[in-house]
Amino acid sequence: MNQQQPWSAETMAVVAGRPPRRAGAPVSPVVELSSTYVSAEPFGSFDDGVYGRMNNACWRDLEAAVGALEGGAALCFASGMAAGSALFALVEPGSRVVMADACYGAMLSLGQQLAAAGRFSLTLVDVSNTDAVLASLDGADWLFIESPTNPLMQVADLPALTAAAGGLGVRVVVDNTFATPLLQNPLALGAAVVLHSGTKYLAGHSDVVLGLLVTADHELELRLRAHRGLHGGILGPMEAWLALRGLRTLAVRIERQQASAGVLARRLSEHPAVSLVRYPGLPGDPGHGRAKTQMRGFGGMLSIELAGGRAAADALVAGVRLWVPGTSLGGVESLIERRRRIPAEPEAVPENLVRLSVGLEAVADLWADLQQALGSVTQLSTSAG
Ligand SMILES: Cc1ncc(COP(=O)(O)O)c(C=O)c1O
Repeated sequence: MNQQQPWSAETMAVVAGRPPRRAGAPVSPVVELSSTYVSAEPFGSFDDGVYGRMNNACWRDLEAAVGALEGGAALCFASGMAAGSALFALVEPGSRVVMADACYGAMLSLGQQLAAAGRFSLTLVDVSNTDAVLASLDGADWLFIESPTNPLMQVADLPALTAAAGGLGVRVVVDNTFATPLLQNPLALGAAVVLHSGTKYLAGHSDVVLGLLVTADHELELRLRAHRGLHGGILGPMEAWLALRGLRTLAVRIERQQASAGVLARRLSEHPAVSLVRYPGLPGDPGHGRAKTQMRGFGGMLSIELAGGRAAADALVAGVRLWVPGTSLGGVESLIERRRRIPAEPEAVPENLVRLSVGLEAVADLWADLQQALGSVTQLSTSAG
């Protein structure tokens, strides 16, 4: 890869992490299945690729690609949660952590458990309320946020928050799972670390679980690398290879998914069974202005609230035939889920909220399916009266 070439992110998603160009070399990386490597003399360090818990060629390929897209050094982990755990492990005992009050439920639960165990003190904030976040930063050490958030689709003012945090010595972690590095680069906006559930858009085919952290801070990178090697819950080479294969098509997937999400968001906002559409691409959405300035697109995720309440939300999920009722997101197939059915979901998430992850099916088919299912929801709320 020629570092001098100012290739676009779309191109980097295709070429970064590819084997060196020489006659006879494979164009696609090979899967390196080896737990150990032939020793070099003198012995250097475990990080130099002498043992499979410390390094693997498939990790390096994937990390090169995601690092190039996010503008830092990437490290892969066994899941997005393993990536989050590694970060929390770096928080010094007695620190103060500020976290989004409505973020991915398991991440919030992990932060709350660690705080309850006395590892650090925790302040929860609404990340879309910039004044509230700024007020909470004094005396804090870390700020953990998502933008857009899962599943409320709130957009945080990343430049304002990172500027204030930087002045106070607070390290900002941004979960960029929903936006992907093609639509938003938190490091360029001032964050210290980017987190990805690579399970979602990066891998993109609902066939692998992985996580990634990206940072341009070399000291943090070394500490995270050491943590991964010592704690040992690593990513398998095959999973890393699958994720890189998925990443190659990220640009075309995102383009299609967000185009369809925009169409569906507009149509859903006119449907009588829907009381609210949460999608930053809609001009009336509270996050629209911010998303326009800090993102390069609005993404393929949206949430809706049903006028008929929780029963209507359940009926919609039960009534679809093409959309797949299921958790997770960012795959080629469209997924639908009433989030509050999950016990760990934050209370800020309304009972009647249904999250939609828009896939690659024809938007006409996706809309027809929603329309037929919403038709029976409307009948249900009319007969209930
Ligand atoms: C925004 C976000 N962050 C982190 C995670 C955790 O990732 P994983 O499931 O890969 O552990 C998820 C999972 O749904 C998520 O949606």
